[in-house]
Amino acid sequence: MSRKLSGIRACVFDAYGTLFDVHSPVASVAGKIGDDASAVSDLWRMKQLNYTWLRSLMGEHANFWKVTGEALDYALAAYGIKDKGLRDELMQLYLTLDAYDDAVTMLKALKKQGMITAILSNGSPKMLKAAVKSAGLKSHLDHVLSVEEVGVYKPNRWVYQLAMKHTQIEFANQICFVSANSWDAQAAANFGFQVARIDRFGLADENIPGRPDIMLDSLEDLVAAI
Ligand code: LAC
Repeated sequence: MSRKLSGIRACVFDAYGTLFDVHSPVASVAGKIGDDASAVSDLWRMKQLNYTWLRSLMGEHANFWKVTGEALDYALAAYGIKDKGLRDELMQLYLTLDAYDDAVTMLKALKKQGMITAILSNGSPKMLKAAVKSAGLKSHLDHVLSVEEVGVYKPNRWVYQLAMKHTQIEFANQICFVSANSWDAQAAANFGFQVARIDRFGLADENIPGRPDIMLDSLEDLVAAI
């Protein structure tokens, strides 16, 4: 596996799990949930992704806010939690997720190098706008792209195509796609992007087509890799 990418003109980032910590909402109310807190958060995230794939296959698209709420309802019910106030609090916290520590420094450095920067995410435009604003990323991003424009979720090719359309880059291999979600990184590589996977969760590659070009320990390592 090469340690450096070449010919990159734009860096396009996955949002949830890559720039934003999806476990920060439950972590901040963990005291109200108790010992099951981290299991609830894991199940919430897993169901959220499962529902995007199921809805895409079913041809029953609903935006990520609705899917995220439905996944949360599943996770809370699975752990016998019937607190409507807590449910609403967790959803509100999803609009102001913590960004990972190195996100701002990394984006600033990329902009200094003249890179086009973008988010390409399952998130609805409203969710992404809120998260980007609250994490202070807005001025470092040229584009914030949502799957809502194509009405189907990752890893459908139409979604990855959006990055080419909006950056006006004709060749997929001039885009570096960055994700900590292995399935997303691999599907993006299969689409034709050069891909950096952030190995935040110590996960093995999925047995699906596509392999990332490089694995990095942190977002900040990206700056030296392109
Ligand atoms: C996203 C999900 C995959 O932001 O994390 O698109």
